[in-house]
Amino acid sequence: MKVPLSKPWISKNDKSMIMRCLDNSQLTDGPILRKFESKFSKITKSEFAIGVSNGTQALQLSLVGLGIGKGDEVIIPDFTFIATANAVISTGAKPILVDVDTSLNISIDSLKQKLSKKTKAIIPVHFAGLSCNMNEITKITKKHNLSLVEDCAHAFGTYFRKEHVGTFGDAGCFSFYPTKNITTVEGGMIITNSKKLAEKLYSLRNHGLNKNLIQRDNNTKPWNYDVLNPGYNFRLDEIRSSLGLSQLSRFNVIKSKRISAALYYNRKLKNISGIDIVNLPYEKFHAYHLYIIRITKDFSISRDELHLQLFKKGIRTTVHYKPIHTFSYFKQKLNSKKFPNSINAFNECLSIPLFPTITRNQQDYVIKNILKFRK
Ligand SMILES: Cc1ncc(COP(=O)(O)O)c(C=O)c1O
Repeated sequence: MKVPLSKPWISKNDKSMIMRCLDNSQLTDGPILRKFESKFSKITKSEFAIGVSNGTQALQLSLVGLGIGKGDEVIIPDFTFIATANAVISTGAKPILVDVDTSLNISIDSLKQKLSKKTKAIIPVHFAGLSCNMNEITKITKKHNLSLVEDCAHAFGTYFRKEHVGTFGDAGCFSFYPTKNITTVEGGMIITNSKKLAEKLYSLRNHGLNKNLIQRDNNTKPWNYDVLNPGYNFRLDEIRSSLGLSQLSRFNVIKSKRISAALYYNRKLKNISGIDIVNLPYEKFHAYHLYIIRITKDFSISRDELHLQLFKKGIRTTVHYKPIHTFSYFKQKLNSKKFPNSINAFNECLSIPLFPTITRNQQDYVIKNILKFRK
C-alpha cells in the first residue's frame, strides 16, 4: 500500500469553478478574488482580507506595509519553514531567531530575552495548526509598542480562545500551498482589522497604484491612475481565487476530516513507550495541518531508522523542519548555539501522513507499521 504524506483534495466543484472562470474576460485581480477575500474575512471575522500570490509574499507585504525595513529587527522562531525568515530578509530587516517550547511554538521566555532597541516586530508561527499563546504575545507587543504579524500558514481554522488566529495583531498571513488546510495551488491571504493598513496593502500588491483593475475599467480613462509608493506584482489571479472560493465553501468538511483522522491517530498512538504525540492535551484546539510524533530514546529504533523502514513500506514521512540556525547562511550570521528545544524537536519529530481524504485503511497501515517497532 502507498500512503503519501499529504494529498490535495480537489473536488468536482473545484474543477468546474476553475473551468467556468476561464470564460470570464478578467482573469486576474477581478470579482472572484473580491468574493474569495470577502468570504475569507467573514470566516475569520476580520475586517479586511487581501489575496496575494503566496504566503511568503503575504508576510513580506505585511512587514513592508507596516514600515519595517533596513535597520529593523524582527523576532521569529528558529523552528519554522525558511519562508518566515526569507520574508523578513526581503524587506531589508534582520530576522532574530528565538527558541521554541515543547509545543513547537515560539518560547515566550526566549522571545523576551531577544527584545532589543531595534526590535520592530514579532512573527509568531502557529505551528502545525496549534495557536501560540496570543495572550502573552500581545502583552509583549503592547508593552514594547511592536508590530505583530502572525504567520498562519499552518493555521487556517485555528482559534485561540474563540478568535481566529491572524486577528490578534496588525496582520495575519495565510498560505494556500497544495499541502495546506485549503489550497489555491500557490496563493496567500493577509487579514487585518486596520483600514489604513489594508488600503496600503491593496495598493502595494498592485505596483503601488491607487486604483485596481476593476476601478480602472469602470473609468472612461483607464490609464488615469497615480502611484504613491513603489510596489510589487503580488496579485492573486481569478483561477486560483475560484479554487480557493470553492474550497472555502466546504471548509467545514475539509477541517473535520483532518481532525477526525488526527484524533484516530491520537487514540491509537497514545501511551506507547517511545512515542510522544506533540500537543496531545490540546487536541480540541488543533486544526491539524500536520500530525507530528516524537520518537524518543525509549523507542526501539531511531527516528531516522523508523522513517526509512516506513519508506520501504510505501509510507512517506518527513521532518518539519530543519531549524533555521542550522542553514549555512544563518550559521555564518548568527550565534547558533542557543536553541536546545528546536534542536531536540529536529532530532525527534516525525510528521506522519495526514490529509482530508486519508482512509482508515491507510491510517491502520501506518499505525501497524509504526507499532511493529515499539519495545
Ligand atoms: C510556517 C510557514 N510560513 C510561511 C510559508 C510560506 O507560504 P508559501 O509557500 O505559500 O509562500 C510556509 C509554507 O510552507 C510555512 O510553512
